[in-house]
Amino acid sequence: MRIPREIIDQIRERVDIVQVVQRHVSVQRRGSSYVGLCPFHGEKTPSFHVVPSKHLFHCFGCNATGDVFKFVMEMEGLSFGAAVRELAQSVGIEVPEREMTPEDRRAMKARASLYDVLEAAAGFYESNLWTRPEGAKARVYLEERGFTGEAARHARLGYAPDAWSALLDNLHQQGFTPKQAFDAGLAKERRQGDGYYDGFRDRVVFPIRDNRGRVIGFGGRILEGDGPKYLNSPETRLYEKSKVLYGMFEGRRAIQNKDRVIVVEGYFDVLALQAAGFEEAVATCGTALTPEHLERLRRMTSNVILLQDSDEAGSRAAEKALPLFLAAGLSPWRLMLPDAKDPDELIREHGPEAMEQALTRKEPLLEWVVRRRRDAAGRDTVSLDRVVEDLLPILVQLRSSAVSRVAGLLGLHEASLRRRVESAARTNPAPQQEEPKPRPPSGWTPRREIVHVLWLLVHRYGETADILARTDPAVLGGEPDEVRTTIARLMTGEPVAAILPDLHEPNLQRTVSAVVARDVLYTDEEAALGMCQVLHNLDLGRREQRMLFLESEVERTAREGDAAGMRTALEEMQTLKKTTPALERALLDRNVDAWLALQTPADPA
Ligand code: CTP
Ligand code: MN
Repeated sequence: MRIPREIIDQIRERVDIVQVVQRHVSVQRRGSSYVGLCPFHGEKTPSFHVVPSKHLFHCFGCNATGDVFKFVMEMEGLSFGAAVRELAQSVGIEVPEREMTPEDRRAMKARASLYDVLEAAAGFYESNLWTRPEGAKARVYLEERGFTGEAARHARLGYAPDAWSALLDNLHQQGFTPKQAFDAGLAKERRQGDGYYDGFRDRVVFPIRDNRGRVIGFGGRILEGDGPKYLNSPETRLYEKSKVLYGMFEGRRAIQNKDRVIVVEGYFDVLALQAAGFEEAVATCGTALTPEHLERLRRMTSNVILLQDSDEAGSRAAEKALPLFLAAGLSPWRLMLPDAKDPDELIREHGPEAMEQALTRKEPLLEWVVRRRRDAAGRDTVSLDRVVEDLLPILVQLRSSAVSRVAGLLGLHEASLRRRVESAARTNPAPQQEEPKPRPPSGWTPRREIVHVLWLLVHRYGETADILARTDPAVLGGEPDEVRTTIARLMTGEPVAAILPDLHEPNLQRTVSAVVARDVLYTDEEAALGMCQVLHNLDLGRREQRMLFLESEVERTAREGDAAGMRTALEEMQTLKKTTPALERALLDRNVDAWLALQTPADPA
């Protein structure tokens, strides 16, 4: 289902990119841009620019760049089509759907209704907990655990009543079918006969939200009695456990501002931490950490603190996570709590200060893993050798400074450990660190002059486009096709935001977006002259080349007795010798018209 280009351009034009960005990142006006902390990498000084006049964003820190669609895709995890549709709706533009198959349309409707079902369920659970008699026992339970404050309401905690169809009945009143509840992961199919029953019964429920705060699933804790302590929604079209982190929606601001994230095991741990001022806490939803989780975190901060429970299961989970972190290019911390099983318990029993105190004792996960293995093994060389052998898959992923730390911890000679790691790396190379998007290798690096030409066309189009049009396009002769096409498209007045997505050469893409976000290079008054100067500089080299060529031509024609050829070469040399100083004089006089008058228009041939 292709959306027509004009519609996309129109939406981009109409949407206020600053407003959309502000939903996720706070940016302040600076000149014609808005500047803030980049949401795509951790940073403390703002290098993330939004340029409303060009409908683009660009980060000078990590080079993330693009238009408002790209931003929404990245931040909200949407496809291009979904981002376009969402933004179209917000500005009242209708996206034609005629090219969607009926199947597409059904899928889209079903998806949209899933959000509505989940939202309705969340509301039902909430009202049970806070206002209805059925919820009394859950209120007492939460009261005892200290979770009836603002944080609990913020997290939209709820209670699923002790009944087989309380939710289904309520949803029915709100106009949803049992099948919809089933598709949303809220109901189960009866084993005998047909029909469905409530999936969560007599449990405190934790709504799990996506990056935009939409409920996509639930976790539910038993109050007392038999049965699994926690139940979680099954995976649905909306809820992918390998990607979602509980607490991310509330915590994202804090993660960016504090440039750190605390990864814990449980729902209550996230709540306890967030209530105690550690909003940068997240948890997986009953699963181990996955590469997708780490990728989401890595986009926000490189400072990941792993705070698994202080039991054997927690330690094993921490150990298992290390290779994933290394593969994601992250070096996490391991935090062990001294007097408590988990952060919820620590904060309840010793207060938030104890947590702050504990954080000062975090250590690199790598070192913790190495010491743990060392301490578990015997002190003899055979045991130590086995420890090294077991660690090799990790060691081959390390930078050399880390290898020497490991050698120190194990009491080994650095050089001999290094040799072993190297030989292991040869027979069993470390998995290539996966780039989010593999970029083709780039051969092109921008010359200063080309950057200036791009800047002038983007920012001073009116003053400079015609100047470029009136000079010999051969000045750009040495540039790759894509650079010349880009300049040609800018010359026709095409918006830069429409050109950017078409660029393949990564350095060109980076350069163009950086140019968009770059502060003033030329004032309005200087723009035209600036263009002449830049083109002149580009042309100088070419003139010198031409001069050398003509000199050799004169020699050749003299040698061969080609009088006519020699005359032509000499004449062109004369013109070149005359025009170069004339052009320079025009520039010195700041006389754009005189400079233009001296241009030889492009060969019509
Ligand atoms: N979990 C789960 N299924 C279980 C047990 C645990 O999905 N049967 C997940 C939940 O996400 C839970 C987390 O693991 O939040 C931590 O579980 P656990 O260590 O058992 O939590 P406790 O701290 O013992 O539980 P609570 O704080 O609720 O008493
Ligand atoms: Mn707990």
